[in-house]
Amino acid sequence: MATARAEVLDSAAQPMTETPVRATATTPVCLAVESLDAYFGATRVVRGVSFGVQTGQVTAIIGPSGCGKSTLLRCLNRMHETIPGARVEGEVRFDGRDIYDPAVSAIGVRRHIGMVFQRPTPFPTMSIRDNVAAGLKILPRDQRPSKRETDDIVEHALRRTALWDEVHDRLNASAVALSGGQQQRLCIARALATSPTVLLLDEPTASLDPLSTQRIEELVYELRSEVTIIIVTHNMQQAARISDRTAFMLAGELVEYAPTNAMFTAPRDPRTEAYVTGRFG
Ligand SMILES: Nc1ncnc2c1ncn2[C@@H]1O[C@H](COP(=O)(O)OP(=O)(O)OP(=O)(O)O)[C@@H](O)[C@H]1O
Ligand SMILES: [Mg+2]
Repeated sequence: MATARAEVLDSAAQPMTETPVRATATTPVCLAVESLDAYFGATRVVRGVSFGVQTGQVTAIIGPSGCGKSTLLRCLNRMHETIPGARVEGEVRFDGRDIYDPAVSAIGVRRHIGMVFQRPTPFPTMSIRDNVAAGLKILPRDQRPSKRETDDIVEHALRRTALWDEVHDRLNASAVALSGGQQQRLCIARALATSPTVLLLDEPTASLDPLSTQRIEELVYELRSEVTIIIVTHNMQQAARISDRTAFMLAGELVEYAPTNAMFTAPRDPRTEAYVTGRFG
């Protein structure tokens, strides 16, 4: 299925040990979003959004249901345009180049900017090993690793997602025998196997139990030194626990974008304050 194929490139409760905010004035911007509009047919659901995602940080996108969080995320790796009738205006510069430049390939973009979805999406007919290696098989022939290199990449990705100890003795077993939390870590391992620069996570813990959620949160927190992460979440406590910066969206607009501590303790916009204090949403 084409969508599932594209999703190859995809992707609790205690505070983390370190202070989450690491934003500095000198942190380079990895993704620069400029005046972004996203449409379904004639309906504009993302409206004039501009912000910069800083390299090596976790950026959270929060906001009430239907405000455009998933759509915005999908515009960041050209997934939005895969929906019939959907289109984007504006710019998303990745390492300085507009990903919507006609000369830029969407598949190439998605190789560098991976994505993981709310529901774990392992390929049901594939083994655990083949699931992790799936993205490698669609690399251009001259970039495709050998079998031995693939084995190393699979092991590394499974170790990074803390799955290796749980599955190393059944790599050829079907991925669907894994628990929901393990399946989601497998999907993150699959996304990491192609060494993306950015990982987009759309509510990756929304269908998981609290313990599995905590493991994914810890994982996200640890991975940020290797990959820039943007996570959509309904859960404000989750955003507070794991993100460095937070973007608050309302009705398709970006209302406020700030270091997470500031967003939750001293929001500048009264609508942000109303949302983070639970007065709506
Ligand atoms: N495939 C689609 N076709 C038409 N409209 C859509 C489609 N997907 C989403 N929308 C509309 O676009 C708007 C933004 O939806 P989006 O899924 O981005 O919101 P969201 O903030 O991610 O919501 P949630 O928190 O419920 O996941 C909503 O009004 C939604 O109804
Ligand atoms: Mg959504």
